[in-house]
Amino acid sequence: MLPLRAFLGITFVFAGLQKLADSNYLDDRAPSGVHQQLLATSRTSPIGGVLTSFAHHSTVVGLMIAFAELAIGLGALLGLWTRIAAVGGAVISIGFLLSVSWNTHPYYLGSDIVFLFGWTPLVIAGAGGVLSVDAFLVARARRDMRVAPMGRVDIEFAAVRNLCGSYEKGRCERLKGAACDPVPCPVLAQRPRLRPDVAKELDRRAFLGAARVAAGVAAGATVVAGGVAGLGRLLHEPSTKRAAAARLGQGPGPTGGSTTTSPADSAPAATTTTVPKPPGTAIGPGASVPVAGAASFTDPISGVPAYVVQPTAGVFRCFSGVCTHAGCTVDYSRPNNRFVCPCHGAEFDASTGAVLGGPTNQPLPAINVALGADGQLYVTD
Ligand code: FES
Repeated sequence: MLPLRAFLGITFVFAGLQKLADSNYLDDRAPSGVHQQLLATSRTSPIGGVLTSFAHHSTVVGLMIAFAELAIGLGALLGLWTRIAAVGGAVISIGFLLSVSWNTHPYYLGSDIVFLFGWTPLVIAGAGGVLSVDAFLVARARRDMRVAPMGRVDIEFAAVRNLCGSYEKGRCERLKGAACDPVPCPVLAQRPRLRPDVAKELDRRAFLGAARVAAGVAAGATVVAGGVAGLGRLLHEPSTKRAAAARLGQGPGPTGGSTTTSPADSAPAATTTTVPKPPGTAIGPGASVPVAGAASFTDPISGVPAYVVQPTAGVFRCFSGVCTHAGCTVDYSRPNNRFVCPCHGAEFDASTGAVLGGPTNQPLPAINVALGADGQLYVTD
């Protein structure tokens, strides 16, 4: 139990703090933020309707997920209300399994199904009574009430014979003179039961003790989480802003001639050609896309998150921002010119969409894009 509790507890605490420290997490426009991820996974998830309605309250949902992970992780680590924490961990794992991991093939490459089954022993057995606040509080309550401690004590069977009062020359009077053996021994078979009022009082004391500890831990965790969130934003915000993709604004309708780059040009040596009039939908000014950088937008045709990149001046390429592994929205990392998936770590070349690593072998789908004479970028079908 201990290694399992340590792993699940540390992982959930880390996941909760990481979310709170990520300045993109609650940003509705950030591709890796909870809002965009909810919308992206809702398209392929069997609970897509629920995820879409969650996306309307993404700040509250995001904070609830982060703080729930923190509380669940601390509960597992401390052995505090362990079963409740384990049920919470299983519920969160089911939620992730039905959303971000739903399209993972084969299924065993998704981590959430493993987390779900990892929680089940703790749901069934709690903390197992080892290094657990729950067990400590129960033991203290029993001591205070002078009730015998829980657990077994190894004693010689000879001592049972001396104490039971039914032993006589190798025979057991209670068993009508049958041979005295540990099995069946009527004394050992007795399961001492507490009086209902004593059991109730023990439960009440243990619960109140756990509630006091939980309140203290929650107060401490809130202070730590607040500090981590503030520190994370302080340390990461400047670099994140530098590194992240800008958001393209919606431009005016099609006018004039254009320069196009199609998916067929997706090789590094692509050239641009001019067409008289772009047929597509304007997504924003090309000047908003930094050279050797990217800007995000929503594909007006499919409605999915997408990116336009400008690997060299005047050459534009567009890619779907939906990870080909399980449908999360990828993030743009400017320092190494990659799209990085926050869910399971897939990485794609931002200039070509090709897979560079991670649990997928499908490149990001390319999207036709054209630069109009008016300076606007157009998505064409
Ligand atoms: S969804 Fe799994 S790596 Fe992107």
